[in-house]
Amino acid sequence: MNYNRAQFLCSYGISSQIPPSDRIEIAFAGRSNVGKSTAINKIFSRKNLARVSAVPGKTATINFYGVENIHFVDLPGYGYAKVAKTEKHRWSELIEGYFAQDRNLYLVMQLVDMRHPATALDVQMVDFLITNEIPFIVLLTKSDKLNKTQRTERLRLIREELPCGDQLTIIPFSGETGEGVDEVHAIIEEIALQ
Ligand code: GTP
Ligand code: MG
Repeated sequence: MNYNRAQFLCSYGISSQIPPSDRIEIAFAGRSNVGKSTAINKIFSRKNLARVSAVPGKTATINFYGVENIHFVDLPGYGYAKVAKTEKHRWSELIEGYFAQDRNLYLVMQLVDMRHPATALDVQMVDFLITNEIPFIVLLTKSDKLNKTQRTERLRLIREELPCGDQLTIIPFSGETGEGVDEVHAIIEEIALQ
């Protein structure tokens, strides 16, 4: 797959605006600031394809990117405490609305910050994916920020924190060093063949 050919397609602020899916979709989910937009840029070797911000809550819309036969979907981050209730409501409408639609969703990349225990919302999200039989993998982001001891510890604990933890595909990932990118590419290539 020619990753650097990725193109921004469209942003949606309300789930009912999203057109029916006519391509394979791979979605990125995770709490606000976990590194979804950064991961998308790294996977596509592009600096500014998806907007990255140190301020949580940057991606407040569902953004679609296209490469060959796949659409990549950057979902708004959940769990950011400091936004107004109306805005939170809009985000959950978008995320829940997206998942409620009958889409060609082949995989969710569920991002969890490698530095911290999975949050209650991360657990809820993984529960939701399992219950709805949506295939997913877990990317542990910001892996560059941990030393070896912390890393080993987090890799062990995350399997206890997430539902069905011992059965999950869990990949340490870094937008800084590129760790995990090859593994993610291999998974995308496999899906692209379907
Ligand atoms: P929302 O759009 O608010 O949901 O956030 P997001 O999940 O898209 O996070 P984003 O990619 O904007 O990254 C948030 C912050 O974390 C930025 O300051 C990034 O530079 C930083 N960041 C993201 N991934 C990594 C990583 O792998 N390593 C390091 N060191 N920093 C990262
Ligand atoms: Mg973002």
